[in-house]
Amino acid sequence: MHYSSFYADKEYILIPSGESSKSLEAILPVYRSLVNMGVDRNCFFVGMGGGVVTDIAGFVASTFMRGSSFGFISTSLLGQVDAVIGGKNGVNLDGYKNLIGTINQPDFIINDPAFFQTLPGKEYINGTAEVIKQFLVADEASFHWMNKQLDAYLQKDASMLFDLIYRQSKIKAEIVSHDEKEKGNRKILNFGHTIGHALERETGLAHGFAVSIGMVYAARISARYGLLDPDQLKSIIDMLQKCHLPVESDFELPLLLETIKKDKKRKGDSLDFILLEKIGEARIRNIDFDELEVLLNKF
Ligand SMILES: NC(=O)c1ccc[n+]([C@@H]2O[C@H](COP(=O)([O-])OP(=O)(O)OC[C@H]3O[C@@H](n4cnc5c(N)ncnc54)[C@H](O)[C@@H]3O)[C@@H](O)[C@H]2O)c1
Repeated sequence: MHYSSFYADKEYILIPSGESSKSLEAILPVYRSLVNMGVDRNCFFVGMGGGVVTDIAGFVASTFMRGSSFGFISTSLLGQVDAVIGGKNGVNLDGYKNLIGTINQPDFIINDPAFFQTLPGKEYINGTAEVIKQFLVADEASFHWMNKQLDAYLQKDASMLFDLIYRQSKIKAEIVSHDEKEKGNRKILNFGHTIGHALERETGLAHGFAVSIGMVYAARISARYGLLDPDQLKSIIDMLQKCHLPVESDFELPLLLETIKKDKKRKGDSLDFILLEKIGEARIRNIDFDELEVLLNKF
């Protein structure tokens, strides 16, 4: 068990690691423990861990006794660049991600890349997909900056990572501060996630690996629409590969359509799909399912 000195002298609840902890059934014992511990509405919740723990902690804090204040100490790469910023907290339902949840902001977030020293390599690569995504949709200069420093990044160099976490937090906070409820531009953060989420559900691929493939297909669709320059498409694929992320799947893409239709972001017979105009600039385009089927059949 890592970092137990942080909480050993506090009242705490341990949550088993893994996505299976993120369900209503799995968190019922957490609520019961809070009752047994005599927790009241004046208590302050701190979620310490990866995205699973902080998503659950934010959701439990937001719902137990109609809500208390909370903060996060994030220990994973995906957590620090993505999960703890933006106020989305929630749990999954029947394999569909984050279907039940709240939008409620923490009072503080502690992001320290020193935690990555104990983070398993696969989890580091998993989080890397979201790092690349955020630069792709919003910050071309940082995409090229990261590309030049990939060795330092892959070796978890502390000073490079401090800079990276700062750039990433700034991007996400800026986008979310203008659109907390995801009615507009926050949707660009879903780049790669329509196909990614469906692949994750159908193949069991880890989230970041599925999103990496989803980003490549979304970038290829962007190029097909005449938006993204083919050279930039190649740079994106190169970057993902250099970061040990997959860029294609054996799974037959048209078979993903039924799963995509159940995406919580669907709007009737269509959904907002995120395309790239260029590296660092995303565009939301409503695509109906017939058109999407034609596109998926081309790959
Ligand atoms: N709320 C949001 O906006 C948002 C955004 C993106 C992702 N998420 C959610 O985040 C979750 C994924 O987060 P994750 O990738 O951090 O997964 P995770 O929380 O499952 O952590 C991955 C693994 O790494 C371990 N771990 C975490 N930090 C560690 C450390 N410093 N040292 C050693 N081991 C460590 C965990 O115990 C776990 O086994 C998903 O449930 C996803 O839906 C939420």
